[in-house]
Amino acid sequence: MKGVAIGHFNISNLEGLHAIYRAAKKLNVPVIIGVSEGEEEFVGRAEAVALVKAIREQDNYPIFLNADHHTSAESVQAAIDAGFDAVIIDGAKMPFDENVKITKECVEYARQSGREVLVEGELGYIGSGSNIKDTIPEGAGILTRPEEAKKFVEMTGVDLLAPSVGSIHGLIKSGKPHIDAALVSEIRQYAGVPLVLHGGSGLREEDFTNAIKAGVAIIHINTEIRLAYDEALKKSLAENPSETTPYKILQPAVDAVEEVVENRLKLFNMRS
Ligand code: G3H
Ligand code: ZN
Repeated sequence: MKGVAIGHFNISNLEGLHAIYRAAKKLNVPVIIGVSEGEEEFVGRAEAVALVKAIREQDNYPIFLNADHHTSAESVQAAIDAGFDAVIIDGAKMPFDENVKITKECVEYARQSGREVLVEGELGYIGSGSNIKDTIPEGAGILTRPEEAKKFVEMTGVDLLAPSVGSIHGLIKSGKPHIDAALVSEIRQYAGVPLVLHGGSGLREEDFTNAIKAGVAIIHINTEIRLAYDEALKKSLAENPSETTPYKILQPAVDAVEEVVENRLKLFNMRS
């Protein structure tokens, strides 16, 4: 639907999940929880599945789990086997043919799993890592060509496509480039599948709204919530040096993440 995108937010722990779920529930909007390979290893693959499933079933809530930026067919297959709702095979750094090959392999595995698992492919490298960067990393940010997007979708059979349309993973100190909304719209037409915008942290509000109007269906945010967690936790520890109860120390970090997520979800669900 035009005017609305689903928010995708990464977690590293249970606090992150609580914060994101609380924000989504407050606004009554669907939400996707993401774990990268590193986040998945820290949280636990089966644990991540169980936690998200528990919320979905207990509250009958549209919350889903995505294996974010998985870089090998093996790690994608492990996520599918474990019960993830969606997976991303990230071949963005590979030459086109290799990217097609590995993505196709993952799509086939998902289709044979007997479950409905969405597979997202990536075309166009937008840098790696949800962290603070001085400048745009070398080799990142070359925009995806619509004809290539069409070819990629046709050859792989992906359900979702993450193109390079101006954003970069992480917060760039020297300033983030704009989203090329006209390109988003063109790629959406050529690709014929819903588009996913990665590298959402630090983008201007109008970049989000223009991208959504142009055909972006899912938006990924990670660095902004990592930063909010980190700053609130450091403050909490500094202000309460004698506090030893983890849930008291961590509550401000949960609140900070919830606020960031709520603000982003409001923007993604404006329907105008
Ligand atoms: O897959 C994760 C996202 O694309 C996050 O990007 O850290 O720039 O918000 P971000
Ligand atoms: Zn991403």
